[in-house]
Amino acid sequence: MLSGPNLNLLGEREPEVYGHHTLADVEAMMRERAEQLGVEVRFVQSNHEGVLLDELHRARLDCQAVVLNPGAFTHTSIALRDAIAAVRIPVVEVHLSNVHAREPFRRRMVLAPVVRGQVLGFGPYSYVLGLEAAVYLARGGVR
Ligand code: DQA
Repeated sequence: MLSGPNLNLLGEREPEVYGHHTLADVEAMMRERAEQLGVEVRFVQSNHEGVLLDELHRARLDCQAVVLNPGAFTHTSIALRDAIAAVRIPVVEVHLSNVHAREPFRRRMVLAPVVRGQVLGFGPYSYVLGLEAAVYLARGGVR
């Protein structure tokens, strides 16, 4: 599970948009579901694009799928787009908020064409659904 910039501030950051759960709360929800599904999850959050790139590269060696909330890099990062296209493992993009219902600049989603799918608008539950999708894909779901 890769979380991008500003997501370490969940809980205090714009709670009217992102809710009151902290990233630790969201990760705990995911961890609980992971246990039920019998999978292991590594959690990484970074405010740095390069660290997210390195983690995507690393994941291709020891993970079967990636759930990614790229934060604002969703709308800007060609480097992340290229990294997702480069790694062979499925990447599921998740967002807490429904970005399509927000400012027009958030409708440009540069990773969308290279991720396997997106889950957005369900608050912390987007992460849980993203995990379920990732496990489904890792276990040989749709190609
Ligand atoms: C976000 C949506 C992005 O537009 C924003 O920049 C974020 C959070 C979300 O989870 O809703 O940082 O990825």
